[in-house]
Amino acid sequence: MIDSSYWDAKYDVDNFIYTKDVNRFVKEYCEPLIQKIGPVGKVIDLAGGEGRNSVWFAEQGWQAENIDFSGKALTKFLAFAEERGVGAKCFANRADATGFESVLMPVDVGVCAYLQIPQPDLFDALDNLLENIKPGGYLMGVWHARENLAEGFGGPQDPLVLPTASEMREFLEQYNVEIEFLGNRDGQVQTREGLKPSTTLVLLAKLN
Ligand SMILES: C[S@@+](CC[C@H](N)C(=O)[O-])C[C@H]1O[C@@H](n2cnc3c(N)ncnc32)[C@H](O)[C@@H]1O
Repeated sequence: MIDSSYWDAKYDVDNFIYTKDVNRFVKEYCEPLIQKIGPVGKVIDLAGGEGRNSVWFAEQGWQAENIDFSGKALTKFLAFAEERGVGAKCFANRADATGFESVLMPVDVGVCAYLQIPQPDLFDALDNLLENIKPGGYLMGVWHARENLAEGFGGPQDPLVLPTASEMREFLEQYNVEIEFLGNRDGQVQTREGLKPSTTLVLLAKLN
């Protein structure tokens, strides 16, 4: 079982494991939302790690709450936010994704990027996240897709932590949401042998 001590040890290095650059899919799908909602929004970045996505939102003017169970990740996130001059807009909340209480709720956008955990827990986490998003707000998610095992590189190799679009669609059926995009996107990951193809599941849903 992968717990917070695994992640604390992984993050206990000087460099940023997931870089300081916003994820390309988070940027692609959330930039238009920021333009639409305006410069004073609020976001929960669930399992936000070292905070590359939270800090990007804060740089756009939004308040960003990074909820992650790794204290080491959150310490790096807060230092990174200060370094970028957006410390006052960034909030760290150390909690398990399946049972958090948000300090910023209700938010305009809930982001969940690469939270690769087994499905009962993933769906509990997304259920919590959905409860903390305003009506009219958005849920945006990114995961290494299960198809990546056969057709791509990178990400965990355990099918149980790799969601598919149909599983995600079935989960969302119980909510009053409109799916704006749900599907696999092609991308690339850096490997020792250079850039290789990678399949990413992307979700954008609007809450009614
Ligand atoms: C692959 S990293 C992604 C980090 C960040 N979202 C990004 O894209 O850079 C996964 C993150 O999920 C966090 N995590 C895993 N399981 C969690 C749980 N049950 N509750 C809270 N955080 C969790 C880890 O600490 C880690 O920071």
